[in-house]
Amino acid sequence: GFLKGLQGSHTCLRRGVVTEAQALANRGKDDDHGPGDQEGFEAVQQERLAQAERSVLISCHSKTNEKRFLKYLSLHGDIQNSFFYDSYGTYAVVEFASPESVASLHKAVSIPAVNHESLVPFKSRLLSLRSLGAADRPTGQTGPQCRPQTAVPMNELIQTLSQEETIDQQVTCLTAAFQLTEENTRLRFLVCSLLRDIAASYFPECNVRPFGSSVNGFGKLGCDLDMFLDLDGISGRSLKMPNAGLALEYQMKRCNSERAVTQSILSVVGECVDRFGPGCVGVQKILNARCPLVRVAMKTSELLHLYGRLDGRVRGLVFAVRCWARAHAITSSVPGAWITNFSLTVMVLFFLQRRPAPVIPTLDHLHSLAGPADKSVIEGNDCTFVSDLSRITLQDNTETLEQLLRGFFDFYGSFQFGRMSISIRKGTEQNKPEVAPLHIQNPFETSLNVSKNVNGTQLDRFVALCQDAAWHLEQSAAGAPSAPPPQRGADTAPAPWGLAALLLPSQTAGVKGRRKQKRELASVRLKGLLESLKKNNNR
Ligand code: CTP
Ligand code: MG
Repeated sequence: GFLKGLQGSHTCLRRGVVTEAQALANRGKDDDHGPGDQEGFEAVQQERLAQAERSVLISCHSKTNEKRFLKYLSLHGDIQNSFFYDSYGTYAVVEFASPESVASLHKAVSIPAVNHESLVPFKSRLLSLRSLGAADRPTGQTGPQCRPQTAVPMNELIQTLSQEETIDQQVTCLTAAFQLTEENTRLRFLVCSLLRDIAASYFPECNVRPFGSSVNGFGKLGCDLDMFLDLDGISGRSLKMPNAGLALEYQMKRCNSERAVTQSILSVVGECVDRFGPGCVGVQKILNARCPLVRVAMKTSELLHLYGRLDGRVRGLVFAVRCWARAHAITSSVPGAWITNFSLTVMVLFFLQRRPAPVIPTLDHLHSLAGPADKSVIEGNDCTFVSDLSRITLQDNTETLEQLLRGFFDFYGSFQFGRMSISIRKGTEQNKPEVAPLHIQNPFETSLNVSKNVNGTQLDRFVALCQDAAWHLEQSAAGAPSAPPPQRGADTAPAPWGLAALLLPSQTAGVKGRRKQKRELASVRLKGLLESLKKNNNR
C-alpha cells in the first residue's frame, strides 16, 4: 500500500515527513491490489507466493485480443488479476482465484507438434497462446497495454527531474520512477514459484523465496532477484521419537557438512533448470561463493523493509543516493571492489540515525521494543526486533529531503573512515575491529563486515564524489547555478539542476578531464570483471 502511496502522491513527501501513521491513513485511498503492508512482512511474503502459484505465464501475440483471451482462460475459473508485458515478445501473467483453475488449465494444454526436434517432456506454467481459427487471429488493432518492467534510462530521468521545482520533488519523482511496480513484484514471485516447481520434483516440500532488494522496499526496476531454496519445510524433523516401542526413520544420504549438502542440491537443481526449464538459458553454477547466512539475510530484508516504512524520507534518500552512486560508477553491476547497493543502504540508515534528531531509531532500540513473538535467533545470531510499528515512537525531525541529501554527502565527505566502523545496531560510530578501508557491521552477524570487498581506491572515490556533491548542492542552495551552461538542442528542455545535475557525469570531473575519467572508470570496471571471472574459474 505504501509503495503506491509514495508513487501516487507527491505532496506527502513534499511536506517532509511521512510516517507510518500517515501512510496508514492514506491506505484506503489507493487501488493497490497487492497484499497490504499491515499484514506483517512474513504474511505478505506467503500471500505473494500463494498468488504466484495460482498464476501462469503465457507468451502471446502483441496484438492479442485481451478480452477474448481472458474470456477463454476464465473457462477454467475466475481470474483474479492479469497484466501484459513486453520482453523479447509479449507475455501475459494471469492469476486465477483458485489453484484448481491452474490444474484444470493444465488438462487443456496440448504438447506442441515439432518436426525435426525432440521435446523435453517437462510441463511448466510457462505456456504459449496459439490462435487457430480465423476469428481468433490477431486483428491488427492495437494489442493489450504492456506494463513497463525496466527503469527509465538515466538521460531521460535527468530530463524529467529537471522539470521539478524542488529537490524534494526530484527525490520523490526519482523514487516513483525507479521503485519496483506491483506487476514487477508479481513477476519476481512468479519466477520463484516456477523455479520451485523444478526443485519440487526432488524436494516436494521445498519453497523458493525471494530476499534482498526484491522484497526489502529498496528494489529498483531491473535489480537482481535474490532467491533462497528453503528446505526447512521438510516434514518429520520435528517429530518426537517415542520413548518406548518401535519407530521408523528415513535412511538418508550423509555429507560432510551442510555446505556440501547445499552445494550438491544446488548443483542438481541448477542442472535441471538449465536442461529442463522452458525459457531458462545460460545457467551458471557458482557453488563456492562465500555468502552470509541466507536466513539472516531474510531477516535483514525484513529489517530494511521496516526502516523504509517508518518514514517516507528513508526510501527517497536511499533511491537518490543509489542512483547518484550508479551514475558515477561508485556501484556497478559487475562484482568487484566496489561499494554495493546494500552497503549504501546501510550507510544511509546510519546517517539518518546520526541526525541531531534521529529520523530512525537504532536496531538496539528496535530490539528492546520486541515482543515475545518477535524473538528470532538464527544460528546464534540474535535477529530479534519489533515488528509492530505502533510501538515505535519517532523523534520530531522535520528536515527536508534536500537537507538530508546534502547532510548525507557532508557526513560521508568528512567521515573518519580510517578509524571508525558504521553500525546501525548501535547507531553510533564504533572503533574499527579489523583493518579494512570501509567497515560496515552486518546488523545481525555482527562479526561480519558488509563492505569487506571495498578497496581503498574505491572508498577514496566515494569520499571525493560525496564532497563534490555536497559542494554542488551548497552552491545550488546559495542560488548559484548548479549545472554547467545548458547544452540545449532545438527543444526547450530545462537545464539539469539539483539532483538531476548531480547525476551528470561532468559534475564529477573535478580536476580530471571528463574523457580521462571515463577511461579510468572503464579500466577499473574491466579489471573487476576480469577478477571476478578469474575467481569463478578457480572455483
Ligand atoms: N547481504 C548481506 N551481506 C552482504 C551482502 C548481502 O547480508 N555483504 C544480504 C543483504 O540482506 C542483501 C541481500 O543479501 O539485501 C542480497 O544482496 P545483494 O543482492 O547484494 O543486495 P540487494 O539488497 O539485493 O541490492 P541490489 O538491488 O543491488 O541487488
Ligand atoms: Mg540483490
